[in-house]
Order: sequence, then structure tokens, then C-alpha cells
Amino acid sequence: MWIAKTKAELRARLDVGSRPVVLVPTMGALHEGHASLISMAREKAGAKGIVIVSLFVNPIQFDRAGDLAAYPRPLETDLVVCETRGADGVFVPDAGEMYFPDRSITITENSLSEHLCGATRAGHFDGVCTVVLKLFLLTNCDAAVFGEKDFQQLAVIRRMVRDLDLRTEIIPHPTMRESDGLAMSSRNARLTPEHRADAPRIRRALLAAAGESDAATILRTAGEIIGQSHFARIDYLSLVDAETLTPTKSLEKPAVLACAVFYGEVRLIDHIAVTADA
Ligand code: PAJ
Repeated sequence: MWIAKTKAELRARLDVGSRPVVLVPTMGALHEGHASLISMAREKAGAKGIVIVSLFVNPIQFDRAGDLAAYPRPLETDLVVCETRGADGVFVPDAGEMYFPDRSITITENSLSEHLCGATRAGHFDGVCTVVLKLFLLTNCDAAVFGEKDFQQLAVIRRMVRDLDLRTEIIPHPTMRESDGLAMSSRNARLTPEHRADAPRIRRALLAAAGESDAATILRTAGEIIGQSHFARIDYLSLVDAETLTPTKSLEKPAVLACAVFYGEVRLIDHIAVTADA
């Protein structure tokens, strides 16, 4: 497995003719959720294709300096995960390699990102779109794998691909969970033992709520279960149209119940599909 730290090295590594390239963009601190994305990319690329994992803690998508500083960066163990799950190469640029100090172009998505995480994290999806577009261009990838865990991110990336006529196929991967239901996240490692023990209530709340049959009860049920925690602080809890991500009170169209919850400084997200016949 090769490791490229600069754009030039990456391009040289990828100058390999017509073999399909499949990218897995990550910010590192890899867990089994990321690892299964890499395995899926390996399957998609086939024996002849090239699987690239990018490990880059993208500074321009963080809205809180503390969160960026605290983001774990265990490079050596990440490289082992990449190698074990069949990556051919890893792109590990530093921030100075990725961004010119006077960079002045940003990709902005103006609709889907107004809701949910976009509403409380100013500029977050601009940062995500900008880095993902750069990674697509740098790798000239045929396909890229994204987790459904970040379902708004997946929707925004799909919209970017559609609206900018990008050639990359987007491959979704289901959310991977711990045995107690908590969605795997690099941020879970930063939870205190008490918070970690409490956090599976997020999944329990969403599951209980999704069994209800009207919007108001769905929101109340989830809000009550999360609200009973001594530690959890709801950032948002929202029922949205699955396609437009706008808040909805009706279950006539597919909807998604999504939330972000703070445990101390650690912000966790999760969501569940809600249908009228649930
Ligand atoms: P990161 O949070 O490291 O996630 C990288 C990819 O792994 C994303 O596609 C995310 O949805 C997926 N992922 C994370 N946890 C998962 C889980 N429990 N199950 C399935 N997939 C999971 O998302 C980002 O990085 C960044 O925003 C990025 C796209 C790399 C741009 O900087």
C-alpha cells in the first residue's frame, strides 16, 4: 500500500491507465464503520481497480476550534485498517498541501444544507463540498463510498454531483452500530464512561418514535426519551422530508427523524427513516 502526502505524488500514483478508481473520503480515526466502507470500495473496484482512502481532518468544515483541535489523529493504526481492508493507497495531505492560504473559491449548496446540521453549524457543508470536490478532482475517481450515518452529508454530496455534472458515482453504505445501538463515530472515543453508557438512548429514542403514527407524537416521544437523560443536550431534533430535508408535519411522503445531541462538548448525530405505515 502506498502513501501519498502531496498532490503531485497522488497524481503520479494514479497515472495507471483505465483501471477504475474508488475513493473513500474520511477524516481518519477509523472505526469499523469506516472499515466497512473500505471493504465495500474494494468490492466495487474489483481486483484490478484502485481503492484510495483519504485521511484528512478538513479544517474548513469545523465550526468549533475546540472540536478541530480535539479531533483524534491516530495515523499508524489508521494505516493498518486501510491496509487490512484492502486499500491500495492512502492520501494523507496536511492542511497546507490542500489549501492555499489565500484560497478564495468555496462550493456552497444552498438548499439541503439549510436544515439540520447545516442550520446549527455555519459553513460546515461548504467545507465538506469544497474538500470532497477537490478529492474527486485530485483522484479523478469513478466512484466514492459515503456512509448513510451522515445522511444530510450524503444528500448534499449527491446534489453536488447532480448539479455540477460530476462523473463520480456515489455509493451509499448503511450505518454501522455498536452492539448497544450507538452509531459508530470517531467522536465516541471522547465520551466519558458515563456519557458513553447513556448515549445508546439516542437510538432507542429514534426507534420508539418511528413506531408512532403522527408527526407530533413522533417528535414528542423522541424528545422525552432523550430529555430524560441527565447528560444529553439536544442540539436539534427534527422530522424532515427525506428528499428536500425541509421540516414536515406530514407522513404522506417518506420522512426522516434526525437529531444531534451534545454530551458535554461531544456532538453525536443519528437518524431513522419514518414511513406512514411504520
Ligand atoms: P468522517 O466523519 O471520517 O466519515 C467518513 C465516512 O465514513 C463518511 O462517509 C461517513 O458517513 C462514514 N461513516 C462514519 N461513521 C459511520 C458509521 N457508523 N457507519 C457507516 N458509515 C460511517 O464524513 C466525513 O468524515 C467528512 O465530512 C468527509 C466526507 C471525509 C469530508 O471531509
